[in-house]
Amino acid sequence: MLALKNSKLLCTDSLINGKWVKETKNRTVNVINPANQEIIATVSSVGVIETQQAITSAQQAQKTWRATTAKDRSLLLRRWHDLLLKNQEDLALLMTLEQGKPLTESRGEIAYAASFLAWFAEEAQRIYGDIIPSYSNDRRLMVLKEPVGVCAAITPWNFPAAMITRKVGPALAAGCTIIIKPALETPLTALALGQLSIEAGIPPGVVNILVGPAQEIAQQLTSSTLVRKLSFTGSTPIGKHLMKECADTMKKVSLELGGNAPFIVFDDADIDSAIEGAMLSKFRNAGQTCICANRIYVQSNIYQAFVEKFSAKVARLTVGPGHESNIDQGPLINIAAVEKVEAFVNDAVTLGGKIIIGGARHTRGKLFYQPTVIANATQQMKLAHEEVFGPIAPIFKFNSEEEVITLANNTEYGLASYFYSRDIGRIWRVSEALETGLVGVNSGVISTEVAPFGGYKASGIGREGSKYGIEDYLNTKYVCIADLDK
Ligand code: SIN
Repeated sequence: MLALKNSKLLCTDSLINGKWVKETKNRTVNVINPANQEIIATVSSVGVIETQQAITSAQQAQKTWRATTAKDRSLLLRRWHDLLLKNQEDLALLMTLEQGKPLTESRGEIAYAASFLAWFAEEAQRIYGDIIPSYSNDRRLMVLKEPVGVCAAITPWNFPAAMITRKVGPALAAGCTIIIKPALETPLTALALGQLSIEAGIPPGVVNILVGPAQEIAQQLTSSTLVRKLSFTGSTPIGKHLMKECADTMKKVSLELGGNAPFIVFDDADIDSAIEGAMLSKFRNAGQTCICANRIYVQSNIYQAFVEKFSAKVARLTVGPGHESNIDQGPLINIAAVEKVEAFVNDAVTLGGKIIIGGARHTRGKLFYQPTVIANATQQMKLAHEEVFGPIAPIFKFNSEEEVITLANNTEYGLASYFYSRDIGRIWRVSEALETGLVGVNSGVISTEVAPFGGYKASGIGREGSKYGIEDYLNTKYVCIADLDK
């Protein structure tokens, strides 16, 4: 039994129309702790019938929710935010147990998740329309912003709280209702957020959460004419599939997909600061983020020094179950993730990569992998082209700015990129040349609720967070009032 201060946060059913609902035939799914493979909880696993119920409930709640004043929607979001922070320890513990990340990172993610609710509580009150100067004296032209309606959110296991609030915050602020389908690996954090939405006083049907098989639920959501928008965070192949599925009902889509972030260190950089940034960017969540440094490019004249200093830092990372104290890196999410990392490392070694540190599974358990540095990385390696989603840092050598920009952009992805330089001219040139939605200059951590998050190319469509993040949840209506001279 989990030792939560607020035992109501351990929820094992789906949330539909403000009520906790079980699957009719008692189908269940076990939630597994990746650190030791123990079952943390058994959760009811809902499907087609419950998804239809959730759509109906969201559709009915939508009518009153959109008519609720912006001020009241804002107050409710703010109350939900406050409850996340009040229950931060319990939520962090749930997250660490089901996802694996160290407790300090989980606490950080709860604060990050809450920040989206606070931000969009404010934005709810700033959804303005426009008055357009008229082309005729007897006409007035207006632009109204309206909620798109019922939304669906399909969220990933790597950020079990923040990727939910980054979607629910703007949806609710805009006057939309929502159906959330969290990843099957991490439903407990999502359901606990649902419990807190009830405690915050968010009306029944406004927030619905369905735990169950992805395909079965997603198929209902994408094919429904009542669902007017889908927001998805996950892999590029699944994002493409969902986009196709949404075409028949012409839904709005927002897609936050895969990345292959370059992390470039020029020879004019502050090398210690670059190493600090690379550590944070690469090893956050054991390398399981879409914006983790995937390819580290270091200019040839500082290459050796960088590899040595960086590897010395990586060697000091502590690996173990996330709930133990002073842990830097937890387990990977499942065995497929470990096998993928192994395959990438083997491929790199076969192609001439030199393992400086790590390069094997870790003795702490089945799903733990050693923080790894691979020098002499080349463009032929899988690590250069695919997202490893694990604690592997391949270090590539480059000679010129022009060369590294070509290499950095030579990928179908375009989510995040990072570079370190103290040269102001270079900072402008390279920021503008990188084909990514996010660029970190002299920092390896740049995510915040106040700035837009989203990708170029195969990394997705739309932006989350910031003043831009609410746009995807709004329709723009042009109203022309004529005959005003009569
Ligand atoms: C992600 O990796 O999907 C999100 C990372 C972030 O928001 O910082």
